[in-house]
Amino acid sequence: MKLKTKDFLTFEELSSKELSLLLELSIKFKKDFKKGKQPALLKNKTLAMIFQKPSTRTRVSFETGMFQLGGYALNLSPSDMQLSRGETVEDTVKTLSRYVDAIMARVYDHTLIEKIAKNSSVPVINGLSNSYHPCQTLADLMTIKEKKKKLKGLKVAWIGDGNNVCNSLIYGCSRSDIDISIATPNGYEPDKKVVRDSKKTINIELTNDPAKSVKNADVIITDTFMSIHIKDKKRMKKFLPKFQVNSSLMKQAKNNVIFLHCLPAKRGNEVTSSVIDGPQSVVWDEVENRLHSQKALLTSLLNI
Ligand code: CP
Ligand code: NVA
Repeated sequence: MKLKTKDFLTFEELSSKELSLLLELSIKFKKDFKKGKQPALLKNKTLAMIFQKPSTRTRVSFETGMFQLGGYALNLSPSDMQLSRGETVEDTVKTLSRYVDAIMARVYDHTLIEKIAKNSSVPVINGLSNSYHPCQTLADLMTIKEKKKKLKGLKVAWIGDGNNVCNSLIYGCSRSDIDISIATPNGYEPDKKVVRDSKKTINIELTNDPAKSVKNADVIITDTFMSIHIKDKKRMKKFLPKFQVNSSLMKQAKNNVIFLHCLPAKRGNEVTSSVIDGPQSVVWDEVENRLHSQKALLTSLLNI
């Protein structure tokens, strides 16, 4: 399939229709993979991966995804490139665009991924910035769809920090007709513009009360209170114990509620082991779905 957008930076770029087709394709990639089918759709295609921050899932899922579809992924550490000696981002990206078919980057400041996209003639994928994590949202929606057999009409509860993962998730919910209730401490709400834009299509509740959020929820999602770019450990006091997803909070949602977390998790902080290892947790399917949904994303951005 072909996407209208050249780049995938926030999740806002996708229309509802495109998202629905992408999710169908992701599920098809997964089914085919399980049957041993690995079409060489990305033969001779290369993906440059640039990581300013550490990663386990994003790096491995993109690298193995490219390999499984017959392509190749190069892991480029900014410190090994001439970037570290003062070559500009613009010149670096223009250079890469002449060699590779797509670029995926994990950055601190979101304006950097925007700059990369602006200077790249090939598709650019945000592998996480301080503000957004769209690839995570794609895998999360795929996981919810698999488990609940639908997206429209569901209620998601986000508990904790209104962070990068939360911002992209709100866009994802707005493209899928999912209502979302977000429980954060004061001052830790998601991006105002994301909320404002998305309120046009779905119900978004912002609250300081996790119990209110999870009432009637089909899905509960959380993430670390200390994202990679956050240095201020004092913030933990604002989150604990109130914003921890534990068995008692899970019980206040629907009986068949599922639990998602992008990982890495800080067990005992945002989530207890009893929840993340419990029967309602789908985090390992969520992890796996990064692989399949990113194959759908890559082939679609490359118009294959
Ligand atoms: N969820 C996620 O993006 O994990 P990594 O930081 O390990 O890539
Ligand atoms: N919010 C987390 C997500 C990690 C995948 C962070 O930015 O570190």
